[in-house]
Amino acid sequence: MDLVLFGPPGAGKGTQARTLAEERGIPQISTGDIMRAERRSGSELGKKFDEYMKAGRLVPDELVGELVEKRLTAEDAANGAIFDGFPRTLPQAEMLDRVLSGLGRKLHSVVALDVPLDVIIDRITGRRVDESTGQVYHVSYYPPPPELTDKVVQRKDDNEETVRTRDQEYRSKTEPLLSYYSERSLLRTVDGVGSLEEVMNRVREAIG
Ligand code: AP5
Repeated sequence: MDLVLFGPPGAGKGTQARTLAEERGIPQISTGDIMRAERRSGSELGKKFDEYMKAGRLVPDELVGELVEKRLTAEDAANGAIFDGFPRTLPQAEMLDRVLSGLGRKLHSVVALDVPLDVIIDRITGRRVDESTGQVYHVSYYPPPPELTDKVVQRKDDNEETVRTRDQEYRSKTEPLLSYYSERSLLRTVDGVGSLEEVMNRVREAIG
């Protein structure tokens, strides 16, 4: 099964994708995580990603396509994947269709998490990440265990100013994909406000 978890920054895509990927035994493919790992490696490509990411702007499509194609054709993704934070533009959506079709597959569905901006800002400013495992926490809603309190970090782009830029990028370049998927009868919209478990149950129901 190939599934896209869609929604604005901080909507909870990564959190839900991680659980779903474990349940279904397929990998979570997060372009943001792949880019952050590249940035940590100190490579030239990672430096390019950093310029865009710290400003809250989308990385150009030509730098994203190859990353995803390589990841999607890896052995562990042979039975499908949960995409989180990808696709974000029309060329990326078309590219995903093309690569899946080349593998004899097509998207099962696109689950869009609907979350208002005030909730997003609260979620993002309280987010903390354990960089060694990629586990995401929230200082109030999903606090890290005491032994990790000093280890978890805040993402560089998790400040209110950058979140507003990320939200504008989402509204102008990513949100239009909702009609692309709706026209193809792939879109399922889910209320993303509620506890982690409540939202997870809505996502499961939407996928069927
Ligand atoms: P990316 O890493 O994809 O970030 P994003 O889309 O901005 O999404 P986030 O990771 O911020 O949020 P999320 O929806 O996964 O929420 P989470 O589950 O963590 O992208 C970062 C940057 O990389 C982009 O700005 C761009 O520069 C670049 N990039 C990446 N992909 C790209 C692409 N394809 N093309 C071009 N550029 C690209 O949850 C957030 C917080 O809320 C957490 O603390 C969590 O614990 C908490 N939470 C989650 N659900 C709930 C709930 N139900 N109740 C209470 N708290 C909750």
